[in-house]
Amino acid sequence: MKKLPEDFIFGGATAAYQAEGATKEGGKGPVAWDEFLEKQGRFLADPASDFYHKYPEDLELCSMFGVNGVRLSIAWSRIFPEGTGRINPEGVKFYHDVLAEAKKYGIKVFVTLHHFDTPKALFDQGDFLNRDTLDAFADYAKFCFEEYPEVEYWTTFNEIYPIATNQYLLGIFPPGIKYDLTKVIACLHNMMVAHARVVNLFKENGYSGQIGVVHSLETKYPASDAPEDIHAAFLDDALSIRFLLDATYKGGYSKETLEALDEICAANNASYDFPEEDFVELEKAKDRNDYLGINHYSSHFVKAYNGENAIHHNGTGDKGTGSYKVKGIGERIYKEGLERTDWDWLIYPQGLYDLLMRIKRDYPNYKAIYITENGMGYKDDFKNGIIMDEPRIDYIRKYLTSVADAIEDGVNVKGYFLWSLMDVFSWSNGYNKRYGLFFVDFETQERYPKESAYWYKHLAETKTIL
Ligand code: NOJ
Repeated sequence: MKKLPEDFIFGGATAAYQAEGATKEGGKGPVAWDEFLEKQGRFLADPASDFYHKYPEDLELCSMFGVNGVRLSIAWSRIFPEGTGRINPEGVKFYHDVLAEAKKYGIKVFVTLHHFDTPKALFDQGDFLNRDTLDAFADYAKFCFEEYPEVEYWTTFNEIYPIATNQYLLGIFPPGIKYDLTKVIACLHNMMVAHARVVNLFKENGYSGQIGVVHSLETKYPASDAPEDIHAAFLDDALSIRFLLDATYKGGYSKETLEALDEICAANNASYDFPEEDFVELEKAKDRNDYLGINHYSSHFVKAYNGENAIHHNGTGDKGTGSYKVKGIGERIYKEGLERTDWDWLIYPQGLYDLLMRIKRDYPNYKAIYITENGMGYKDDFKNGIIMDEPRIDYIRKYLTSVADAIEDGVNVKGYFLWSLMDVFSWSNGYNKRYGLFFVDFETQERYPKESAYWYKHLAETKTIL
């Protein structure tokens, strides 16, 4: 039986576009997703979980079930409908109201400034491939820091790597571009520079509270002992993990990271060009991150691959339909004997332990870590308001045990946020991939605690992983 520290946060995570709904209400400006989803015609981000109206109920549920931390994001286009310039007072007020409600229950709130939802006006100008967006993001961040002194924990970005790759490699996020590694690398780099600029601004202006970034970090292992597979895992890791952690904590890219990048570029006819002055910004920010948020769901086993790019995203929950092969990087394979979800995500808790130990070893200036997302997408069975989601409980138990083991071995992990607090809208899967502690009937917007919610309550009360 493992214990977690007394002051550990047992949280639940959400994001504006996935929870709020009300995409055209309250003066909110458009985001690229609105049109992208309409054209795709499978599902929309309305109603989502109607958090825009139901947040008092969701926060009350938190307090009833021991959830003492919540992750949410501010929708940039609720504050600045066009991304810059005109401010929307209704949007500004909405987040004050949410924060005040959370305060009533003593819930710690982690606020993300950008969770996949750049305002459309800026997105259409190239999103973070356009360097003007970095200025707009810094202005928006500054506005929020001054407007919301009640926020204790700020996060600049959520998941820079999935943004870059889903937008420009897999093409499952708008603008739906596939296999463009030049754009992937430019997006990764520019967003890291934007992060550093905002951290520097935060610290230099002396705002109160803490600031960090949330990275999606999914451990890579070679599919076999063959040197070419070991190298493939190294390349996949370099682009998805090392690149971001180097930028966050080393103030620039290590020699190995750049060598990997050059190799990936050569295989994909891609290139990069990082302006010198960016490294001044990264260098200044590297010891100023108060915490690192880690989103971690899965690990990947990688085999050498030099054929043409071929990715199929399993966005329906038809197990076995996903495939991932990137030229000059590798092929992610399903390892015999390892469980995976219906969306083909490998369940491998050792991956989280290994990742945490590696950060402690390679990036010793990390200060503190929060697991800002972990959880299991599952087709929950709803029987008259009763939802027995044992596989999810089992998943959380195993991953939290890895966290407890890493803490025992000296990693400073201070909290865990289950993705998701309640069932929410999922970007590329719609509504059948459920993650919540609370089941949402998307038609009536009724909430129902799942078995996992009772399990989590006990965990939060006893700090003991049963
Ligand atoms: C990561 C993202 O932050 C979140 O938006 C997403 O829905 C979950 N992972 C599950 O895929």
